[in-house]
Amino acid sequence: MMRRSLMIATGSYLPERVVSNEELSTWVDTSDEWIRQRTGITQRHLAGEGELTSDLAIKAARNALDMAGLEGEDIDLIVVATTTPDDTFPATATKVQKALGAFNGAAFDVQAVCAGFVYALAVADNFLKAGQARTALVIGAETFSRLLDWEDRSTCVLFGDGAGAVLLRSTDGGTGNGWGVLSTHLHSDGRERDILYVDGGPSTTRTVGHVRMNGKEVFRHAVSKLSSVIDESLDANGLKAADVDWLIPHQANRRIIDAMANRMKLPAEKVVVSIERHANTSAASVPLALDEAVRDGRVRSGDLLLLEAIGGGLAWGAGLVRFGVPALSDRAGSETAREEVAPIA
Ligand code: UT7
Repeated sequence: MMRRSLMIATGSYLPERVVSNEELSTWVDTSDEWIRQRTGITQRHLAGEGELTSDLAIKAARNALDMAGLEGEDIDLIVVATTTPDDTFPATATKVQKALGAFNGAAFDVQAVCAGFVYALAVADNFLKAGQARTALVIGAETFSRLLDWEDRSTCVLFGDGAGAVLLRSTDGGTGNGWGVLSTHLHSDGRERDILYVDGGPSTTRTVGHVRMNGKEVFRHAVSKLSSVIDESLDANGLKAADVDWLIPHQANRRIIDAMANRMKLPAEKVVVSIERHANTSAASVPLALDEAVRDGRVRSGDLLLLEAIGGGLAWGAGLVRFGVPALSDRAGSETAREEVAPIA
């Protein structure tokens, strides 16, 4: 029987410091009105001095482990999606591993910028399906503010810091059929590198560099590429847009999110939007939005989720997931307890 990856729990963490559009307007020549109208953002969380990507990742991971009632030792794969690792090496995932005491397997990072979480989910799902790991922690964590040129108003107003996590556990068909990660679909196109990149790195400048973006071009590609990867993921599963309970999109621009929802003819109530409070947190945006919707009771066990994201590379992708644990389909995912998870694994 086919192994599947059940998505058994979620977690997230946001740094304490909140910076409103008004406050940002005192740093650069911008306005609350421009930012709201063009992006839907009203505020963002920014990591404090000395607060690292790993700190956010570890807190999000603990939050997810608590929901599942699992310990670090139950995890045998950690994949962290990040563009803002603590150091050039080792992988930020190894810091998470150490903090959680999760030494029964491998920990590594994945780099696909804003599409990073979807990429990391695909990697972990394939490890679980192949039987190479059983319980995976997948994290999107960023201190993207460290890559921003705070004098470039066309980029610095768009991003925020944060982390989100999900726990995947493999199950051998049976009750897991039709549950968990149904499929993932990844794409990249290096020819579009110059429309969104960081102008530096260890091999080119030996310094970190800053985000540079041709916003209009990225916007155009985002709408067309996300539309086609959404169609691809639905077609691959013989599903229609109307079957989707929740669209959990990358939170880069409210107008892109609305364009996807309109194309799918999904009512606003079926779209999880957090951009107004989180801004674009890159690899963290999808799991942050998902965790929020799980904890406030919108996303329930048994719901069909469509996750999608696009970012620098260009790299983009989508995943279809039936969230939660089969036996608990009538209960909120947030109530999943350790004893209740164990039998299905
Ligand atoms: O997560 C990775 C994927 N990233 C994305 O998906 C981002 C996609 N792109 C976008 O979201 C939008 O293109 C932006 C929000 C970045 C920009 O919106 P836009 O409607 O494409 O605006 P624009 O870049 O064409 O700029 C319009 C005007 C310009 O002024 P002029 O030349 O018309 O006089 C800019 O100088 O807005 C000006 N502007 C600003 N004004 C106030 C640019 N940034 C700001 C700002 N405050 N922060």
